[in-house]
Order: sequence, then C-alpha cells, then structure tokens
Amino acid sequence: MELGNPALARTDNSEPQVRQDEVCGLIRVAEVTKTYLMGKRRVEALRGVDLRISEPGFYGIMGPSGSGKSTLLHLMAGLDRPDTGTIEVAGSRIDSMNESELTLFRRRKIGIVFQQYNLISTLNALDNVTLPGMLDGMRPGERNERGLRLLKSLGLAERATHRPDALSGGEQQRVAIARALLFEPAVLFADEPTGNLDSATGQQVWRLLKQLAHDRRMTVVMVTHEPSAAAHCRRVFVIRDGVFQSTVEMNGSTDAPELALGAQLAGR
Ligand SMILES: Nc1ncnc2c1ncn2[C@@H]1O[C@H](COP(=O)(O)OP(=O)(O)O)[C@@H](O)[C@H]1O
Ligand SMILES: [Mg+2]
Repeated sequence: MELGNPALARTDNSEPQVRQDEVCGLIRVAEVTKTYLMGKRRVEALRGVDLRISEPGFYGIMGPSGSGKSTLLHLMAGLDRPDTGTIEVAGSRIDSMNESELTLFRRRKIGIVFQQYNLISTLNALDNVTLPGMLDGMRPGERNERGLRLLKSLGLAERATHRPDALSGGEQQRVAIARALLFEPAVLFADEPTGNLDSATGQQVWRLLKQLAHDRRMTVVMVTHEPSAAAHCRRVFVIRDGVFQSTVEMNGSTDAPELALGAQLAGR
C-alpha cells in the first residue's frame, strides 16, 4: 500500500522498544545543523539551532519562506536526521536512534500534521485515523473505538464512513489531526496546517490545535504564516536563514501581541 504520509511508513519488520515510561512534552534542540546538497551547491538549511520547550502548550514557529522551518520540524519529528547537534523529544534522544526506532517514535510518541492532509483516498475517515494502529498491531476493537472517540471529539462523528473526496478541506485536516492523536502523543508537530484552507476554516483548525494543547496538556508546535494564529501561541520562535532570530513570549498577554510579533518579523 502506498502511504502518502512518511510518518506512517514502516522501514522494516523489527520491533525495537521505544521507551514508554516518559510521557512528557519536553523538547530540547541543541546546536543543530543541516545542509542539503543540490548538485554541487550546498544549502545550509539550519546553521546552529537551539530550542527548548519545558512545558506543554501551543507554540509557534515563524519565518520567511526558505528559512528552515520545515527542515527543523522534520528533524524534531524524526523524519530526517541532523548533520550535527542533539534533539530530544518527549523523553527520547532521537538524533541517535536507528531507522526502526525512529519509525516507532514517529508512530507512538508524536503526532505530525502537514499542509497536505496526506489521507489515503481509498480509505474512509475512520480507517485513515486507525491506520497507524493497524500498522502497530493494535486490535481492531481498540483502534476503532479510539478512532471513533477521536472523530466524535473533533466534530466528525457523522463523517466516519466518508472517504476524503467527500470531505471538505477543513474536515480532511481534522481527520489528519485525529490520526495524529491515535496514540495520545505528548507532542504534536504541525507544518503550516492551515496553508491550504480559507482563513475562516484555517482559524477553526489552529483554534482546535490550541484547544488540544490546553485540554490534553500536549506540546503543540505549529509552523505558521498567520500572525493572528501566532498571537495565540504561548511563545513564537522566529527563524531566519537557518538560525533563530528571536523568541517572542506571548503568554496570552493582551498587550498587543500581534504588534510585538510584527516588529520581530520585520527585524526591528
Ligand atoms: N530535500 C531538500 N533538498 C535540497 N534542499 C532543500 C531540501 N529541503 C529544503 N531545502 C532547502 O533548505 C532551505 C530551507 O527549506 P525549508 O526548511 O523547507 O524552509 P521553509 O519551510 O522555512 O520554507 C531552502 O533553501 C530549501 O530550498
Ligand atoms: Mg516549509
């Protein structure tokens, strides 16, 4: 079966143990670099990035196109490896994991949501949500029960048997979010999750992510271009040319957070 979501791909059949004891939303990124080779050209996508998140909450990453946001998110989600530096997420040092450990880490310890919803077009909403459980050997009764509960909590109970092409963009993204929550991860990464949606629907999606962070005490890290969404984050990391330019504490302050953020983004 072709899996559009690299997070769901199985790399081999071995089942190494990922530590199950730590269920915390900690993120520690230290001195991470990543260079891509484009023919003979070297692209330094990340040039020494440090990021620390010690408490659950709703966090944002902003920066111009090409500044390294997706690269950083992919590294923190275990989809790729850094060239140098260390990355610890949800109690696991992922930079030293092998491929099969990373596969289990991605499936069980974190959730990932992309701009493209990456749903399987031939599966209905419920089967899309439960697919990671099937790949993990979760019993059908349990995974269907979990999947239905999640769809219901995201307002999609009536959509469980619909295939993606019968769902709106906002509904598809909520199905993708439900799928990301199947293993009740402590950390959820979202790379421009509202990028394909109109602004009203996009707002529903990022508000949902914020609510999940609060209600489930999760760490949600979202890359976004929307200052109005970023203004609702606890903290926003601003990246430029592969390094963090600044960190803006929002802390739910009503003291014109969008203005403060605007000044940071403008490099002032
Ligand atoms: N797989 C890749 N191969 C080559 N270059 C890449 C690859 N992925 C990203 N890059 C380059 O790395 C830089 C950062 O990209 P990216 O992390 O996608 O930025 P952003 O998400 O902030 O737009 C860009 O110059 C991009 O062209
Ligand atoms: Mg990107």
